[in-house]
Amino acid sequence: MLDQLEKLREEALQALDTIQDEASLQSWAAQFIGKKGAVTQALRGMGQLPKEERPAFGKLANDVKVTLEAAYAEREAMLEAQRLAHDLEEGEIDITLPGRTLERGRLHPATQTLRRFYRIWGDMGFQVYRSRDVETDEMNFTMLNMPPHHPARDMQDTFYTTEPNIILRTHTSAGQIRAMRELGENGTQPIRVILPGMCYRYEQITARSEVQFHQVEGLVIGRNIRMSDLKGTITEFARRMFGAETQVRFRASYFPFTEPSMEVDVSSADERLTKGTGWLEIAGCGMVHPVVLRNGGYDPSVWSGFAFGMGPERITMQRHDIRDIRMFWGNDLRFLKQF
Ligand code: PHE
Repeated sequence: MLDQLEKLREEALQALDTIQDEASLQSWAAQFIGKKGAVTQALRGMGQLPKEERPAFGKLANDVKVTLEAAYAEREAMLEAQRLAHDLEEGEIDITLPGRTLERGRLHPATQTLRRFYRIWGDMGFQVYRSRDVETDEMNFTMLNMPPHHPARDMQDTFYTTEPNIILRTHTSAGQIRAMRELGENGTQPIRVILPGMCYRYEQITARSEVQFHQVEGLVIGRNIRMSDLKGTITEFARRMFGAETQVRFRASYFPFTEPSMEVDVSSADERLTKGTGWLEIAGCGMVHPVVLRNGGYDPSVWSGFAFGMGPERITMQRHDIRDIRMFWGNDLRFLKQF
């Protein structure tokens, strides 16, 4: 019996020596050391042996198994090394080929401008308040002193949803009431926030107007906020954004939710952008209307505030000489890769 085992070992090792490829190696393993292989079979047959022969047989069988497994591993490593050497020699792996370069993403130009806004306003003590894109008619209009049928609603053509009174916000001013109610603690706390976000208007899409665009709203509420604070704050922002020599001009305007209301222009050397006037409009603003303060929970005889709204896309267009606002959401990589 022991002789047979020795013969099996010899035979297996000899067979292994001639093996040159992975497939033959696998069938060799199955034949000798696999679950149904010869060594396993021999171990199983041990029960038929007289009791006194079993220990010696078992020991040898195990020994054979260990030898064969080691020989198998060695052969496998050798074949792998041979294959690699062969591949290198035959040039199947060209180690001089450059690797695949990863495409690097970049920030959308609108995002870049938004982040500049956040930094400047943050440095000036403003926190970011996030309000919702899908709004109620009340927040977007009524609470801002624009009840149904108010003619100023016409200034902002609206996307309606199938839910009654649920619309897409036409301006970030819709978040003013939410910010006052949430941060004001029943009209007892001052506020200094910006409200950035996407706005939506049902407009004819042209090179100058899109159905969606960002706005950055600003809202300041306090006990002694005056128009000089508004003018000083906007002027400081403009100088940080456009350069220290920038001139700022305030023109009387109209918004139902501010009184008085103004539009803000900054000086610009770009003839085409300013249509030769030397001034570029960057914001609407004004002192928060007493009705709006009251709707936000503040007593207008004690509290006052100012608000403004800016369009970062228009400012981006100016900075990068982008002549068509449709480029922003057109997903054209040739455009996006330039920033
Ligand atoms: N919401 C106004 C608009 O979209 C801008 C604005 C904001 C004006 C805040 C005054 C105060 O045109």
